[in-house]
Amino acid sequence: MICAVSLNPALDKYLRLARIERGGHLEAREVVASAGGKAVNVAGVLRALEENVELVGFFGGVIGDFLLEAIAAEGIRADAVRIAAPTRTAFVMVEDDGTETEVVEPGGAVSEGEIAQLRAKVRAAASRAAVVVLSGSVPPGCPDDIYVRLLADCGGRPAIVDTSRAPLRALLGARVQPPPAMIKPNRREAEAALGRPLAAPEAMAEALRALAAAGVAMPVISDGPAGIYALAQGEVWHAQPPRLQAVNSVGSGDAAVAGLAAGLARGWTVEATLRLAAACGAANVLTKECAGVRAEDLRRLAPQVVVRRLPA
Ligand SMILES: Nc1ncnc2c1ncn2[C@@H]1O[C@H](COP(=O)(O)OP(=O)(O)OP(=O)(O)O)[C@@H](O)[C@H]1O
Ligand SMILES: [Mg+2]
Repeated sequence: MICAVSLNPALDKYLRLARIERGGHLEAREVVASAGGKAVNVAGVLRALEENVELVGFFGGVIGDFLLEAIAAEGIRADAVRIAAPTRTAFVMVEDDGTETEVVEPGGAVSEGEIAQLRAKVRAAASRAAVVVLSGSVPPGCPDDIYVRLLADCGGRPAIVDTSRAPLRALLGARVQPPPAMIKPNRREAEAALGRPLAAPEAMAEALRALAAAGVAMPVISDGPAGIYALAQGEVWHAQPPRLQAVNSVGSGDAAVAGLAAGLARGWTVEATLRLAAACGAANVLTKECAGVRAEDLRRLAPQVVVRRLPA
């Protein structure tokens, strides 16, 4: 079983419209609503990979109820902390020329008591899990070092952390023992964490080494259509997916994290794990859902991913 922890789930709304005009009256031609938030996305893609998933998270109000129903319909077992604040909504607006604009609410605040309940649930689920995925932003009320605390609750199980900004900085400064198995910032998030641009592959390799030195067993940086970079077994790897016309690329990082988690849980090689992760991220861009992966796309795309070790 793989446990996914969602501190800040969201109702994702995909809105298709002709063009965004600031100050105008915008009419959506098409709306797709789905259960979202990074860890919820990861859990959904893990189901598409036929993994057994348990989700632990904060859920509140009628949107929280809607999400829990949608999650159960996907075959994901959820152990929810019911919170007083309502679960948030996140919008991705896709214009006819393909431009994607996201609007994301911060999420309802959680109390110390709610955090304590969540940590107890994480300890229980982690004790049964092969891998724990800690993914997403942190709602108001949670301390910046919440992922450091949750790693302690994982009881030494391999954990993948995908977060950014203050929670990522807190994690990199904490030297957690045992270290997280993987982290997966995207390029922008890694640049912000390290304070330098990562344009060339050499800069990417240096960044991965810096993240490893900050206490991560296998750092991974995703770079959109340019694929996935990782430092594993002392070597820098690159997985290049095929070039695709994106329908909705939001959630590709979450899909990639699901691939990493599945590879880790299955004991796959670095090569096979990165191939799966890149193929999951690529398959996601072909669907309207934020983190929607079809098995037939995965089967077709995985053999097209080129995985190689970069020269030292
Ligand atoms: N247009 C694309 N074509 C092919 N593969 C893609 C494309 N966009 C993303 N991918 C694959 O998905 C992986 C993750 O994408 P990306 O780096 O955009 O994640 P992200 O920014 O964390 O996304 P999010 O936070 O929205 O989930 C990439 O490393 C790549 O393998
Ligand atoms: Mg991401």
